[in-house]
Amino acid sequence: MRKVLIIYHSQSGNTEEMAKAISEGVKSGGATAVLKRAVDAGVEDLLGCDIIAIGTPNYFGYMAGMVKDFFDRVWADIRDKVGNKPYVTFGSKGGGGAQALDSVERICDGLGMVKVFNGVLATRKPSNEDLARCRELGVKLASLDKISRLEGIEEPRL
Ligand SMILES: Cc1cc2nc3c(=O)[nH]c(=O)nc-3n(C[C@H](O)[C@H](O)[C@H](O)COP(=O)(O)O)c2cc1C
Repeated sequence: MRKVLIIYHSQSGNTEEMAKAISEGVKSGGATAVLKRAVDAGVEDLLGCDIIAIGTPNYFGYMAGMVKDFFDRVWADIRDKVGNKPYVTFGSKGGGGAQALDSVERICDGLGMVKVFNGVLATRKPSNEDLARCRELGVKLASLDKISRLEGIEEPRL
């Protein structure tokens, strides 16, 4: 069964709500969802999944330190092994923009991973609409093998 790894960091719970909604969508789409905080995730998690969703709040215009820590820990062991692995980003921000998701995408793109859908970005506590978009994203990830990756790119998120 297709396995979707959802890793995230969240201090006040906003990004976590989004991660859980993506997980629900993945499961309802018929795939396996593995939900992990970034601090608990490692090389085997990344290499053992088919698709990865990476969630981070915007902290100081960048990804959360714990998400950066994840990349710092796994990078040397995964850098030649994740080319073409599909990924998406999601997360919550305050008054700023999409810099945190962009910072994750720069690393994933640099690793040769393939962004299959634009990220879902909420402002502070995700609205019901944001959570619905997360669930929809999860469903789409569960059935990714049925569509072309590049055709999956949607409209800009901002
Ligand atoms: C240490 C810290 C730094 C932050 N820096 C920014 C920022 O630069 N830009 C922004 O839009 N929001 C910033 N925020 C607001 C968070 O992105 C926002 O509250 C978000 O919803 C937190 O998500 P979480 O509940 O998943 O931790 C910051 C919050 C914290 C705690």
